[in-house]
Formats: sequence, C-alpha cells, structure tokens
Amino acid sequence: MRNAAVTGHPIGHSKSPLIHGYWLKQHGIEGSYIAQDVPPETAETFYGSLAKHGLVGCNVTIPNKEHAYKAAEKLDDAAKTIGAVNTLWLDEDGVLNGSNTDGLGFLGNLDQILPDWDNNGNKAIVLGAGGASRAIIWALLSRGFTEVYIANRTLEKAQKLADHFGPNTIAVSWDTLGETLGEADLLVNTTSLGMAGQPELTIDLNNLSKSAVVTDIVYSPLQTNLLREAKAQGNPSVDGLGMLLHQAVPGFEKWFGVRPHVTAELREMIVKEMGLT
Ligand code: ATR
Repeated sequence: MRNAAVTGHPIGHSKSPLIHGYWLKQHGIEGSYIAQDVPPETAETFYGSLAKHGLVGCNVTIPNKEHAYKAAEKLDDAAKTIGAVNTLWLDEDGVLNGSNTDGLGFLGNLDQILPDWDNNGNKAIVLGAGGASRAIIWALLSRGFTEVYIANRTLEKAQKLADHFGPNTIAVSWDTLGETLGEADLLVNTTSLGMAGQPELTIDLNNLSKSAVVTDIVYSPLQTNLLREAKAQGNPSVDGLGMLLHQAVPGFEKWFGVRPHVTAELREMIVKEMGLT
C-alpha cells in the first residue's frame, strides 16, 4: 500500500485529500492520502525522512514550501525557478525529488477549458508579485510568451521578479496598467484581491482587446469581479478552480503510477464540498 499526504500548518482546511481520495477510488488503487500537520520547525527533518513516516511522497503547503525546497535532494526546473516546492516524491533509488506544480496546474486548466488559449498571442499581464505570481510567470515563459508584464501594488517587488526572470519580463506600475492592458493577449490575477474576505479587484478593462483571455487564480468565489467584468466585455474567461485540481495531477502520478483526469464530476464534488458559487 502506497501512502501520501498533504502537509502544512495548519492543514485542516486543505481540499487535497478530497481530490486525491476521488482519484484513488476512481482508479481502484489501494493507497491512502491524508492531511498531516507538520509545523515549520520540524518540516525539513520530516521531509528528509518521508519513508520513515510511511510516505512515498507528499504535497507541501503554507508555511513549508521553502523548507521542502531545502529538503529535496533533486529539484526540477519549475521548483528551481520558482524557489519553492509543493510536491515531493521518493524515486526508485530513494532519492527525494521536489517539484512545484502550480505553474503546470495553471497551464493544465487553460489547456482544458480553452485549448487554443496560447495560440492567441505572446503578451501577458500578470497582476501580483508574490509566490503564486512566480509560478505563473514560469508557466507563461515555458509556453513561449515573449512579453510578460508584471504589475504590482509594490513596484519594487515586481522589479525584483523581472530581474529574476530576465528580459522577457517587464515590471510595470499599477497606475499605468490601463495603458499596458491594450498590449495584452492574456490577463491573469495572482493577487489575493477578489478572494472571499478581501477587497475586490477593480480595474477598467476598457482598453483590453476583446480576444484577450482573462483568468483568475482566486477560486473562492468562483466568479470574481474581474471575471464578471471580462464576461460583460465579451472576453473569454477561465476561473481558478481548475488550477487547484490540475496542480494535483503530477503528484498523484508520481506516487500512485496513474495519470489522473480532472473530470466534471471531480469539479462538481469540490464545488459542492466548498460551497463555491
Ligand atoms: P501568494 O504567495 O499567494 O502570491 P503573497 O506572496 O502574499 O501571496 O502575495 C500577495 C499578492 O497580492 C502581492 O502581489 C500583493 O501586493 P504587494 O506585493 O504590494 O503586497 C497583492 N495584494 C494583496 N493585497 C492587495 C491590495 N489590497 N491591493 C493590491 N495588491 C494586493
């Protein structure tokens, strides 16, 4: 029996056991996936001894992603560039591998909902310069986007990211966003604005081309103000729930040997469990 877990502190709110539990059942796999509280003080030691804890791997969430990054013996390109690990697995030689699957989750969601989304152009605007922003910038660059504008309330953080990711990324100030919008083939919100309990994201989408794709990584609520405005303007839009579901795919495949699908049934189950609207 192969066992995996989602680890973090606190961990009770995680939806990952529902997602992986659904796939384990769907594929008739004798395995388990539980939520395990791992305080940051003991995190690196814990990740360094997964087998001792009966685990073949795990997901890592707040506040342990940097600890997992340090604990991993081998990192893939996404983890290296993003600087944080959300998925760990022991390979056949017992080596602890680390990846960051948030960017792949972002791509998987768009690929599934709007298969031609990246044929639309190669200029994107990323709102926000936190951890989630790094994963999405990595994803866009890996798909060949050649101009990724990073707009953030604190411009210096956007500039730091642009320096990290190189010449295809450009920091822009939040105040001049209106002008930059006219350039974009894709607009993505990676800030916490629009999340339940946070202020709404209110930007004037007037200058945005009607073919530009608008997407949000916020999934609670499903229909954020940004997505509503995009729809009202006739722009194609994609909500953030699929990113949460798709980021789980690579981990499941590593731990249990089957590549699972993000089905409508899975999505409906999570929407119901979380009471999303
Ligand atoms: P995560 O790891 O989820 O990306 P984070 O690192 O805390 O979270 O980043 C949150 C992002 O939301 C940041 O880009 C933040 O902008 P600042 O860098 O200026 O703090 C952005 N954000 C949060 N609240 C905001 C607000 N009220 N207005 C504009 N941006 C906000």
